[in-house]
Parts: sequence; structure tokens; C-alpha cells
Amino acid sequence: KTLVCKIDKDNIDIKKIKEFAHILRNGGTVIFPTETVYGLGANALDEEASKKIYEAKGRPSDNPLIVHIADKEDINKLATNINERAKKVIDRFWPGPITIVLKKKDIVPSTTSGGLDTVAVRMPSHPIALRLIKESGVVVAAPSANISGRPSPTDEENVLEEMNGRVDGIILGGDCNVGLESTVLDLTGDIPMILRPGGVTLEDLNEVLGNVIIDPAILKKNKNIVAKAPGMKYTHYSPKASVYIVSGEKDNVINKINSLVNDGKERGQKIGVMCINENISKYKGEVIGLGEDLNEVAFNLFKVLREMDKRNVDVIYSETFENNGIGQAVMNRLTKAAGYKIIQA
Ligand code: TXA
Ligand code: MG
Repeated sequence: KTLVCKIDKDNIDIKKIKEFAHILRNGGTVIFPTETVYGLGANALDEEASKKIYEAKGRPSDNPLIVHIADKEDINKLATNINERAKKVIDRFWPGPITIVLKKKDIVPSTTSGGLDTVAVRMPSHPIALRLIKESGVVVAAPSANISGRPSPTDEENVLEEMNGRVDGIILGGDCNVGLESTVLDLTGDIPMILRPGGVTLEDLNEVLGNVIIDPAILKKNKNIVAKAPGMKYTHYSPKASVYIVSGEKDNVINKINSLVNDGKERGQKIGVMCINENISKYKGEVIGLGEDLNEVAFNLFKVLREMDKRNVDVIYSETFENNGIGQAVMNRLTKAAGYKIIQA
């Protein structure tokens, strides 16, 4: 049975946090909010505990977990070769939505590192996450709290629907305000490499580190190059409907999507459309606005994909978004949700 509890992030009930911390300390699994998405946590240094995470998610065992800490210093327990660049990133962006990959220490079990000799570490900024980790006294491995392949949950309702009964505890702590997972930055090579775009953008990192590259494997589908973050090679963020991105000039996109909606209706299908809010009235079908600007699109994307499922939509057509700033993360998740299916308008 899952212990489920609401906790107000602005007025944290320490007694409740302690109950969940106790579960973690004893090798159990707890879902908790972070500023990016909800995480499914367990003691990262306990092999049996981290195995429970893979089971609860149905996650392939070669996909490593991010280890969450509540104190910057704790990275010294987990990683070696903590170079100047790592220190700069930690100083500037922690606590916050960026994960760094470094050589791991032996104490990190291979279940947690997915068999790699590196470890991914993040200090989240969400007050509930920080307090929970602190009270547990352990470092907490936590992937996004979705069944493997599904969009990451960013709100209470979706967490509960998908994970109640699959874990020992669930903390309901409101909406996650970034809405997309953290940036994963590999600092083991000569040049820092973004393995997954996220809340901290390429532009942010350029300012602090100078030259930063993006893993070429995540930019487009290519059988010949394998993504460095094992998680990036799997089908991901998939709603039940097939998703298509429609790209091109603004007016062309609107016309194209409307004609695709008509075609779909003629086939007797229910068609979803995802767009920027100002275009909502221009479409027919199951139209859901993703927000006024890119930050709102990031915040709403996963939630809207899940909402489309609830409406039993067969096909979703989405507008394209600018591929810079947080838009890189948006387009990365959207492209994966679409299985790289892009229609040129
Ligand atoms: O925002 C987030 O990062 C959320 C919250 C809960 O903190 N967590 C999250 O974890 O998104 P997960 O497991 O869903 O995604 C972790 C990503 C995967 O793509 C995984 O392959 C990659 O990070 N990763 C983890 N450890 C790695 C390593 N040692 N080397 C390369 N990639 C790694
Ligand atoms: Mg995930």
C-alpha cells in the first residue's frame, strides 16, 4: 500500500516529511516533487533499493539514474575528478535544474549507474525535495516518476493516476514549475557536452563555461550515432496518440494543420492540435494551447500530452517552436514524443 500525503511547499509539515524520509532510509521508494518533474526516489547507494526503482517504472536496467543531493558537498562522496568546470556549474546553477556527469566513486553501485563508470548528480531547488533528502540522511536516486516511455508527470493528478500502488510513498506537492527534466551535462571529456537539453540552457552554460557542445545524437534521428545518455535512445514521452510536428512558415503551418484535421475527421479519427495560445482560435478539433511563451510551453507540454490521452485523441498535430533557450528542451521532448515525424508545411 502506498502512503500518499499532500505537503505544502510554502509551509512544509516536517512531521510528514520525516515519515517519507524514514521510508527512504529503510530502502523504500518515495515519489516527490522537484522543480523540473516529479521524481521516483530511493537510496542511491543501496543496490536493492535502486532495483525497486527500475521495477516500479518498468525501466531498462542499462539506463542510469540521477543521484539527488541536498548539500553541494555531498558530490565528493559520489564522484572523482571534480574539475574546475564542475565547480563553476555547481556554484552558478545549484540548487537547480542541471545534472552533471562525472567519474563515479566505487561506492555508487552499478545498478544506479546503469553499469557505467560515471555518475549523474543533481542538487534540486524544490524545498520539499531538499528537505526530504536531508531528513532521509541518504543520497537519492530519482528518475522521472513515470512508467518508462510515458511523459514525465509534472502535477499531482498524473502522478497519482500512474504510480499509486507501485511505490511505498507519494508526496503530492503541487505543480513542478519548469515542467521538463533537468539539463544533463557531461563533464568527463575535454569539452562539456549537453546530453539532454533542459531547464539550464546552452546559452546559460556558454556564459559560464565558454564552448559547450550538444551531443549530436540527440539533434536528429541517425542510426549510426548512439546517444551518450543511455536514456536518450529509448522511445520517450509518448502519449497513446501518434504525434506529428508540423513545421514551416506560420500561415502555412496553420493551413496545413487545418487540412490534416479535416482529413483525419473524414477518416473518422479524433484529432488533437497543440499550439501557442494566440493561435487557439485558428484551429478546429481538440485544440489545446501550450501557453503564451516558450517557458509556458515547457511547463505545459507533458501535461497536455497526457490530457490528449484522456480525451482519447487518435492523432496529435503540433506547431513547431523556436529551437533556442528553453525551446531546445521543448523541441527535443516534442521531437521524441513524435518519434521524429515532422511534416513540412
Ligand atoms: O529533472 C530531472 O532530471 C528529473 C528529476 C526527478 O530530477 N530526473 C530525471 O531522471 O529526468 P531520468 O532518469 O528520467 O533521466 C535521466 C537521464 C537519462 O537520459 C539517463 O540516461 C541520463 O540522465 N543519465 C543518467 N546517468 C548518466 C550517466 N552516468 N551518463 C550519461 N547519462 C546519464
Ligand atoms: Mg525520464
